[in-house]
Amino acid sequence: MGLYFQAMATVNATDKLEIERRRTFAIISHPDAGKTTLTEKLLFHGGVIHETGEVKGKSGSKAVTSDWMELERQKGISITSSVMTFDFENLRVNLLDTPGHKDFSEDTYRVLMAVESACMLIDVAKGVEDRTKKLYDICHYRNIPIFTFVNKLDREGKDPLTLIDEIEKTLGMQCYPVTWPLGIGSRFKGIYNRMNKKVYFYDQRREDDLAVEEFDFSGPQDPILEKYLDHETLAQVRDELELIESALPPFDVEEFLAGKISPVTFGSAKQNFGVDTFLQFFTKYAPGPRPHSTQKDLSIEPTSDNFTGFVFKIQANMDKRHRDRIAFIRICSGKFERGMKVNHARLDRELRLSYSSQFIAADKETVDVAYAGDIVGIGDTGNFAIGDSVSSQNKIQFDDIPKFAPELFAKLTVRDALRRQKLNQALIHLSEEGAIQLFIDPIIGNQEYIIGAVGELQFEVLVHRMQDEYNLEVKLNRLSYGVARWPRNVNGQGVKELKGNFNMFEDMIKQPVLLLNQEWDLNWAKKENPDIEFATSIARAR
Ligand code: G4P
Repeated sequence: MGLYFQAMATVNATDKLEIERRRTFAIISHPDAGKTTLTEKLLFHGGVIHETGEVKGKSGSKAVTSDWMELERQKGISITSSVMTFDFENLRVNLLDTPGHKDFSEDTYRVLMAVESACMLIDVAKGVEDRTKKLYDICHYRNIPIFTFVNKLDREGKDPLTLIDEIEKTLGMQCYPVTWPLGIGSRFKGIYNRMNKKVYFYDQRREDDLAVEEFDFSGPQDPILEKYLDHETLAQVRDELELIESALPPFDVEEFLAGKISPVTFGSAKQNFGVDTFLQFFTKYAPGPRPHSTQKDLSIEPTSDNFTGFVFKIQANMDKRHRDRIAFIRICSGKFERGMKVNHARLDRELRLSYSSQFIAADKETVDVAYAGDIVGIGDTGNFAIGDSVSSQNKIQFDDIPKFAPELFAKLTVRDALRRQKLNQALIHLSEEGAIQLFIDPIIGNQEYIIGAVGELQFEVLVHRMQDEYNLEVKLNRLSYGVARWPRNVNGQGVKELKGNFNMFEDMIKQPVLLLNQEWDLNWAKKENPDIEFATSIARAR
């Protein structure tokens, strides 16, 4: 492959500083733990919004910042993932929204491929919930450093030592309390910040959050606690502080960066207590852009002159009036300049990145320059699919973003049979977006796709979007399949024929797929074909 734009886009000293100040992270949590509320408060501290209620659109009438789609508003769930950018102190923070609903776990997985750290949000009353655990597992698998924010301290909940014990046991990860709550629920009076040895007291009755009094703190016996805490709370807090102060070694940054220790802060997102302390800690320790490895085992440094990135998300029809489609590129290295030419590795073609946007809260703004760590949305006419890599100097292919085995299957019929073609086109769009997966029965061909989904809600969204975005009135016909596997031989190649009389299907990159009704059939297939691996995930097209 030839060299692209040699004269352009070298990274100078100022650009390097820009790259180094990028922090890209996501919040992972179980629905209702307070992700929207915390996001809103972070944007508030970042000066992006000036009034609370701007992000939240579930019950209020204000514009929805993090949720785009109509259905999300109706359902009160966040399905699509957006990017929010704000400055805090000297950092440029990119916060990637993750869909909270379990049916969109694949989406979340892709978002987590694009961040350097995550904030795990936990409801103090509920502890580690099912969804949190699953998201944690993904982070852990990728060794992503995790901050923990224990939320809703203004409500009754588990005492902090029990909660920390639960996190450690359930997730198998050590916790390091950065702050410690002074009371809980109606007795919640403030926070001790162990890093700067100060205590912060709040007044829960005051509407204007951030109503904080701040004092230096000499240790568990400091008399300041007596002024604010009732007798019982005082005794408990002192016992807890004595214990953690004597038992814990200092914060080990390396262990944190390796994803082995999670620094824990406590607060109330709703009341805006403890959010600034979290942000300050985040500012100090969150890792900036890290090197990314390519399929050829090259490691690309973020400050490289070569602009590189990969598509982790595609969103069609964000603005119905314009019928646009946006490919979200996570920049891995170098500097992005609007209009620059890049090599598109899968197509092995030169492309010009002309229509680019960045997202500052609710507003989509044209972006002329962006850096490693940033996410740019590129207007796309169908060139991009999830997992695609781009680079300005030579062809580079980053590691795969796998797709996972769906468990629900269906076909769509359209009321007006003449619109079958349009339906198929729409299905292809949505599969490129990663919203569904498509399979082909070789006997029928690509006239009628089999649609696979990981969760029920994906189908609901599909039917809704067909109507809303493509004006297609469709009926969903469920199929009896429940298991999909990609059979591979010892060399990792797709196997088209299996012993035992199994029907084979194809995915959209012509890989053989086995669709089966139940696990029992899969066990049968395994028994008949002991040398074959039945993979649950597959790399995307290259
Ligand atoms: P999510 O995005 O993770 O699903 O959670 P979201 O922020 O929507 O919060 C879920 C509910 O929890 C909301 O209540 C929200 O106000 C509440 N909440 C969030 N953080 C805190 C906190 O620190 N303390 C308390 N007490 N509540 C908190 P809701 O009743 O569903 O909505 P709303 O009427 O309060 O807006």
